[in-house]
Amino acid sequence: MTHSIDTSPLPAPESAGDAPRRYFVTSFGCQMNVYDGERMGEMLAAQGMTQAQSRDEADLVILNTCHIREKAVARVYSDIGRLKREDGSKPMIAVAGCVAQAEGEEIARRARSVDIVVGPQAYHRLPQLIDQARRGETAIDTDMPVAAKFGALPGRARQQRPSAFLTVQEGCDKFCTYCVVPYTRGAEISRPYADLVGEARALVEAGVKEITLLGQNVNAWTGEDDQGRARGLEGLIEALADMTGLERIRYTTSHPNDMTDALIAAHRDIPKLMPYLHLPVQAGSDRILKAMNRSHTAASYLKLIERIRAARPDIAMSGDFIVGFPGETEADFQATLDIVRDTVYAQAFSFKYSPRPGTPAADMEDQIAPEIMDERLQRLQDLLNTQQHAFNLDTVGKRMKVLLERPGRKPGQLVGKSPWLQSVHVTQEGARIGDLIEVEIVSAGPNSLAGEPLALVAA
Ligand code: 5AD
Ligand code: SF4
Repeated sequence: MTHSIDTSPLPAPESAGDAPRRYFVTSFGCQMNVYDGERMGEMLAAQGMTQAQSRDEADLVILNTCHIREKAVARVYSDIGRLKREDGSKPMIAVAGCVAQAEGEEIARRARSVDIVVGPQAYHRLPQLIDQARRGETAIDTDMPVAAKFGALPGRARQQRPSAFLTVQEGCDKFCTYCVVPYTRGAEISRPYADLVGEARALVEAGVKEITLLGQNVNAWTGEDDQGRARGLEGLIEALADMTGLERIRYTTSHPNDMTDALIAAHRDIPKLMPYLHLPVQAGSDRILKAMNRSHTAASYLKLIERIRAARPDIAMSGDFIVGFPGETEADFQATLDIVRDTVYAQAFSFKYSPRPGTPAADMEDQIAPEIMDERLQRLQDLLNTQQHAFNLDTVGKRMKVLLERPGRKPGQLVGKSPWLQSVHVTQEGARIGDLIEVEIVSAGPNSLAGEPLALVAA
């Protein structure tokens, strides 16, 4: 749906009628939003705009929003309020992402300073929406032409960092009862193999050494390879692994039910595929998993982990957890702690259940009191943090390759990633961002490691 609504007495944009020249994009939420934010920026740059250093310097601010939990949504409205400047002016404001998709024109009604509302599948039309906003209309586009979007975006620009995201799959057909994603991102679609291989090649030519394949259910990706064979995600990973210059491949996030034998085997057979897997289980009680419509049990998840570890014994497991799902008893919560103890995670994300409008769980009885959720989250995070720290400590004394990604806080220090996605701090004269260096880990904290350089492995 593309249309405009009337907005009579709005404060005039800083340069009413003028084309915005400097944009600033803030992305909230998941990595797919980060990818979308980058592509929006690249598209605006291709139109001749430049990236502002801060929101204050921008005449177009894009808030690329997340709808997954209530807190994330509240943040958008407080951010919009803060965009008004001391002299009463404001930049052109675009709300993009999943809040835009879910709330549509309601946003423009609630926050009258918003000029553009654009869903995650329609941002390739930003230039037209900007023109519409310049004419003084509020421009709203929450259409879902996913395939059209990717076709309409410009090629990938030179990348600042050696590690890039590549969205290969969007949407979700699983309908977990707590989750808004099937409504905001739509049905599962896979981008075509040839397009993805092309985009990956462009990224490598733009200096990228590591690609993380993204999707709400990335391991549900399917496509036809260049020989016309039907392939799952492992086929795409194989193609990427053949690219000279690309050193590392990762993918996130996965559903346990889409973890095929072929993908598990890829973890054994493809050295460029890093030994890290984000595989959310959400909860450990079968009763809660059923109420969540997760279509796996605690036992089937643990069996799967066993098969993955048989293929790649050193794999670092990561996951997502929700505490306080409606009806969760202390015994159910204990089952979540049990599955954490049985799996042993290297890293994990855990959240308090947040009722989302329109999802089945929001209407379930026995919503859990906030104090109980707080207390359960604390206990779960204590356990997960202990596991993460133990995993990090286990790497002390080991040698590993680190891909340097950004400057550290101390002079001369650089921060990179281990194969297991741990942050590693290193100081090595002559080393540059983008280098893959070999280090020995000398110390480990709960959130990062320190390494002593051994040699420059590849420039
Ligand atoms: N409340 C809390 N956490 C949620 N997630 C998704 N929906 C909700 C919700 N309504 C979490 C899940 C998912 C991650 C991206 O966010 O753990 O895996
Ligand atoms: Fe949401 Fe479940 Fe789909 Fe993940 S699998 S995006 S949690 S509905």
